[in-house]
Amino acid sequence: MQTLTSNHIPLTRNLPPFRLNSPPPLYRLRFPPSLHPISAIAAPALVKNRRMHSMPPEKIDVFKSLEGWASQNVLPLLKPVNDCWQPQDFLPDSTLPYGEFLEEVRALRERTAELPDEYFVVLVGDMITEDALPTYQTMINTLDGVKDETGASRSPWATWTRNWTAEENRHGDLLRTYLYLSGRVDMMMIERTVQYLIGAGMDPGTENNPYLGFVYTSFQERATFISHGNTARLAKHRGDPVLARICGTIASDEKRHENAYSRIVQKLLEVDPTGAMLAIADMMQKKITMPAHLMYDGQDPRLFDHFSAVAQRLGIYTANDYADILEVLIERWGLEKVEGLTGEGRRAQDFVCGLAPRIRKLQERADERAKKLKPHGVKFSWIFNKEIPILS
Ligand SMILES: [Fe+2]
Ligand SMILES: [Fe+2]
Repeated sequence: MQTLTSNHIPLTRNLPPFRLNSPPPLYRLRFPPSLHPISAIAAPALVKNRRMHSMPPEKIDVFKSLEGWASQNVLPLLKPVNDCWQPQDFLPDSTLPYGEFLEEVRALRERTAELPDEYFVVLVGDMITEDALPTYQTMINTLDGVKDETGASRSPWATWTRNWTAEENRHGDLLRTYLYLSGRVDMMMIERTVQYLIGAGMDPGTENNPYLGFVYTSFQERATFISHGNTARLAKHRGDPVLARICGTIASDEKRHENAYSRIVQKLLEVDPTGAMLAIADMMQKKITMPAHLMYDGQDPRLFDHFSAVAQRLGIYTANDYADILEVLIERWGLEKVEGLTGEGRRAQDFVCGLAPRIRKLQERADERAKKLKPHGVKFSWIFNKEIPILS
């Protein structure tokens, strides 16, 4: 079993240097988790000298020129509202006569009664990650050339972002209500965690640069697709087919979103191969930060590490998934075959295409070290301070 959480693979620290014309990467500027200050609110300030607006202004024209393409190739990946599932499709129907409604709630509680506490830790962590959606919409609207300039801009980029957000909004709503009705979790602590997290924000190092932003979102959507897919499988295995269907349905949304974002990066590779390749290398060198890395419940300053360790142990999202995602994207984008690169672009290509085996090797070593560790119990406020064994 691995000790290093998916968000703390020591990959960049131990890899041979790949240097872009950029300031020191994120990992050097961040305190190790154990030194993280107590308040998650203070955490973003730790990233000093953050580079901003790193896309040269003339490249805004790239995104302007791709508006017609985006309308034809990205917007169709949204689903019309009336064809979309809604949380109510999966939840007890409160308009039923009282007794029938209670019967549906009782059935839900019976199904969730057999799920282990550690499963709830992961499901709650996933729900909290979804619920911090205002942060993600804000993040995308920091990106030059694609941001929603008015709040109701008609540009296809802004139209995508608003409607992507609207689709995503159902994920947290559904998981939250299901968890609430299960009676298995401490909603007060969960709600506090969400409030802290939205207040803390996130800083994935995308530098207002849509090249970096779309690499990040491609990776992240796939990560959530994997994570929700695995929570679905576990729910099915543990006897809650409705929860399995919920997580599987959310996963299929994430897959569609992944297709949209990775299609954008694919197009950037076509129109600006060196720019896109450098962006992919830059994000991979920084390491893809998980969106909820600043989560805090008012009690555990290492809450995200502990949540990640449980997710890793249950096989919901592991360090190997990180390497798998990278390999899938390399394959999908045909990165090994991209031509027309400058010298710097070729160096970036070599770096990215050789990265996954190196990540796996580092992980194997971490696994070896982990075998010598004894598990210790960590209390999670989300499940009434019950202890879950983790290795870290
Ligand atoms: Fe989502
Ligand atoms: Fe998503």
